[in-house]
Amino acid sequence: PEAITVQELANRMAEKGADLVKSLFKMGMMVTVNQTIDQDTAELLVTEFGHNIQRVSESDIDIDASFDVDAEETLKPRPPVVTIMGHVDHGKTSLLDALRGTDVVRGEAGGITQHMGAYQIKTKNGDLVTFLDTPGHAAFTQMRMRGANVTDLVVLVVAADDGIMPQTIEAINHTKAAGVPMIVAINKIDKPEANPQRVRERLLEHEVVVEAMSGDVQDVEVSAKTGAGLDELIEKILLQAEFMELKANPDRDAEATVIEAKLDKGKGPLATVLVKRGTLRVGDIFVVGTQSGRVRAMLDDKGRQVKEAPPALPVEVLGIGGVPMAGDLLSVVESEQRAREVSGYRQEQATAKRTATAPASLDTMFSALQ
Ligand code: GTP
Ligand code: MG
Repeated sequence: PEAITVQELANRMAEKGADLVKSLFKMGMMVTVNQTIDQDTAELLVTEFGHNIQRVSESDIDIDASFDVDAEETLKPRPPVVTIMGHVDHGKTSLLDALRGTDVVRGEAGGITQHMGAYQIKTKNGDLVTFLDTPGHAAFTQMRMRGANVTDLVVLVVAADDGIMPQTIEAINHTKAAGVPMIVAINKIDKPEANPQRVRERLLEHEVVVEAMSGDVQDVEVSAKTGAGLDELIEKILLQAEFMELKANPDRDAEATVIEAKLDKGKGPLATVLVKRGTLRVGDIFVVGTQSGRVRAMLDDKGRQVKEAPPALPVEVLGIGGVPMAGDLLSVVESEQRAREVSGYRQEQATAKRTATAPASLDTMFSALQ
């Protein structure tokens, strides 16, 4: 969705374009009828002309729309968001554990990651890096694709003893589709049967040419078990991140992406979100997908309470009216009324969509019975 032009807005309000231009001039803005204005200005004008803000299409109400692009001077450096991908059991979670100095793997049922964990680590030099740990299961491909959307770069973990496997190839394809740079971490090099050179050669078949093979994809040999190569891996991540000049405006109402969400028996609906821009604060009123709420508390990846979440910090949010979906965008709004208005509208839309697609699902049901 695009920002609205003055003329479009005038048409919707049944006012003269020239009158809007005059009004804007009084507000100190020199624009013509064909120029676009941002949402805030549009809303101001609507109120100025004594109309109620009545949204007639989804693009009007969609506060997720990139209506407002942050001005260059508001942008500040932010930590990179790195997604760890790779085949089942190649050591994604172990690698993250080693980097964080924790032991998540042992707490997992059967050592298989069932959800997408989100963590932020501080390097020896004080640099921050955010990591997303994706499940190795093929059934979670969908979620992994979402991971690739919030991600700045991917670390592809390949076990040096096992080599390129189906989900390694899947991960390569997702990364390419997302258009983000990749760093290859050849893991388990402590194992006697490890053959990192074979991994590099086999990667060529999938058009991943690592530095050691005169390509431009960074690669690093690591062992989550012994800790070998971990500093080098962090260095390469930071180098790549520096090159990308990642920035976000921390001084605005927050927007965050839902990484995972669930219903907790004691705490109610919970969502792990990753702040995209702005700073999320306790007390903020928000809309997330078809839900709304107010931030009651926020917990970091170590379960500590935080009052503020700046860009790229993953936090668990308490205080949501219902369970949102992974991939939903959380947007802070100015009032509870606005939050209800937007979430209500979205619920209507969702219901309308479901009703519209009902015959199709009946068809599927019948064909499945045949
Ligand atoms: P999924 O979440 O199921 O996709 O697996 P994962 O990729 O997260 O692998 P995980 O970290 O659970 O590790 C799988 C197994 O490999 C565990 O038994 C680890 O202890 C072992 N492992 C991981 N990294 C290394 C390593 O560098 N060396 C050795 N020897 N074993 C490792
Ligand atoms: Mg895992």
